[in-house]
Amino acid sequence: MQKILVARPIFPDVIERLKQYFDVDWNQGEVMPADELTRRLADKDGALTAGDPVGAAALAAAPRLRVVSNMAVGYNNFDMAAFNASNVLGTNTPDVLNESTADFGWALMMAAARRLAESEHWLRAGKWQKWAYDGFLGSDLYGSTLGVVGMGRIGQALARRAKGFNMQVIYHNRSRVALEIEAELNAEYVSKQDLLRRADHVVLVLPYTKENHHTIGAAELALMKPSATLTNIARGGIVDDAALVEALRSKRIAAAGLDVFEGEPKLNPDLLTVPNIVLTPHIASATEATRRAMANLAADNLIAALGEGPRAGRPPNPINPDVIGKARS
Ligand code: GLV
Repeated sequence: MQKILVARPIFPDVIERLKQYFDVDWNQGEVMPADELTRRLADKDGALTAGDPVGAAALAAAPRLRVVSNMAVGYNNFDMAAFNASNVLGTNTPDVLNESTADFGWALMMAAARRLAESEHWLRAGKWQKWAYDGFLGSDLYGSTLGVVGMGRIGQALARRAKGFNMQVIYHNRSRVALEIEAELNAEYVSKQDLLRRADHVVLVLPYTKENHHTIGAAELALMKPSATLTNIARGGIVDDAALVEALRSKRIAAAGLDVFEGEPKLNPDLLTVPNIVLTPHIASATEATRRAMANLAADNLIAALGEGPRAGRPPNPINPDVIGKARS
């Protein structure tokens, strides 16, 4: 039987599925440090990860490894140049999380705009004595302008929901999306600068790459309206968290919603000191149905890539399909 490592605790029934095909080494404990991950990968044919960094050293130490299946749509934890150089396949879990993640983007954006977390903390602290005409004034979503940075599948799902709020949709992306999609979403393609200047609510839904590290920093925040909100459901590192703290403190922008952080699960402690922010622990895809779908898709990818099951040799979501069928190097 081929051997696999499942690097994180996941649904036990998905482990049972994997056990039908493989000898499974399952980490049910804490997130493994890099040296333990490397050691446990050394004799494996495949692995299932969820955000665990996998780079050249781990691949070099695991000569049998042919596939690493990430239970996430984002795969910035994989060094794809090293995967390609070693002919190791990477896979991810796109699409199954689009709608849940888009829902959550709206939840954070609305919470930021209407000061949900801030007012709830105030109420819980026993500070509510009287109604006040100016208590927790926020900014409207209905009829406002939504700025989506990153118009991939999740960005489109997010923008589609704007119709019911009668919002104008503007977007920025590496390249313009198909005209039919723009027409369906009633979305206008604009430069990043224009988007930041015009949007009432900016939502970040782009993948993390070295090039877009700190895509939103002090200079970009300075372009935004003082009444605007910023929501990040993409990846930590896209926003300069220290610059964001400063912009929120000085009311340069009104509020923010963050589900992802630089260096998570640790976060910049200053984020905890500003009231006009909603903070959640990377849960945008976290519904029972969606996380199950992601885990099962990650298992499907692993099973198929290792030549087992009904799709043997044809994993549904290869990131670097060119390496399929090539000998490990
Ligand atoms: C979650 O962050 C994912 O990339 O799926």
